[in-house]
Amino acid sequence: MVYDENVYIPSDDTMLFIDYFKQFFDSNTFNGIDTNQIHNILDLGTGSGILAIILAKFIKPTHFPKAKIYASDILSEAIEIAKENAKKNSLEDDIEFIQSNLFDEFPPVFKNKFEIILFNPPYLPSEPFTKQKAKKKLDYSWEGGEKGIETFEKFLSQSKDFMSKSVITYIYFTFSSNSPLELIYSKIKDLGFQIKILKKVHIFFEDIILHRISKKYF
Ligand SMILES: C[S@@+](CC[C@H](N)C(=O)[O-])C[C@H]1O[C@@H](n2cnc3c(N)ncnc32)[C@H](O)[C@@H]1O
Repeated sequence: MVYDENVYIPSDDTMLFIDYFKQFFDSNTFNGIDTNQIHNILDLGTGSGILAIILAKFIKPTHFPKAKIYASDILSEAIEIAKENAKKNSLEDDIEFIQSNLFDEFPPVFKNKFEIILFNPPYLPSEPFTKQKAKKKLDYSWEGGEKGIETFEKFLSQSKDFMSKSVITYIYFTFSSNSPLELIYSKIKDLGFQIKILKKVHIFFEDIILHRISKKYF
């Protein structure tokens, strides 16, 4: 894998996803989903591409060989690095990359498309970042809006238009215990998702929590 100064180096939050998904590497099931029904998976905010690459390399071949994996990021720099990493892993034909602010630049063909979305979002409040003279590209990895939840809230609102409506769909995401989680959970419930905490890791002054939210639209 290669990285540069603009791109998030996989960290404890990234590892939470990987540790959770490891259990599926050698199994034939995936969270109780009928894997024949999984056609499109999105790693949103892909950064270095690590999660899309792990899915494409270790889970897709045994679980959903026909699925298409997409990876998106707001930064062109991240897309370039993620493409390079996909190539280094001989996965350049297995992952399609999209540069987009959340779903803003996704063409209409992506409506109702994804059965699974992963998002390791930025979740820190913006104040320390707005005091800087110039926002650095890497700040997109941390800064999630005024309260730290605005980027994720917008993601949630948009996601309902892009999730498949014909099977149960899952969104996997992390958040910090220091964030106003009750606001996020209430938004999730308002949108009709079920929520489950899958895993936590304690780091310095916070827990990072991996969640899965699911919805049956049919
Ligand atoms: C915490 S990093 C996670 C990177 C990678 N998925 C991982 O787990 O190592 C968050 C990523 O989200 C991207 N990002 C931030 N805001 C975004 C937005 N509005 N739309 C798309 N991507 C965004 C950042 O550029 C960054 O690559």
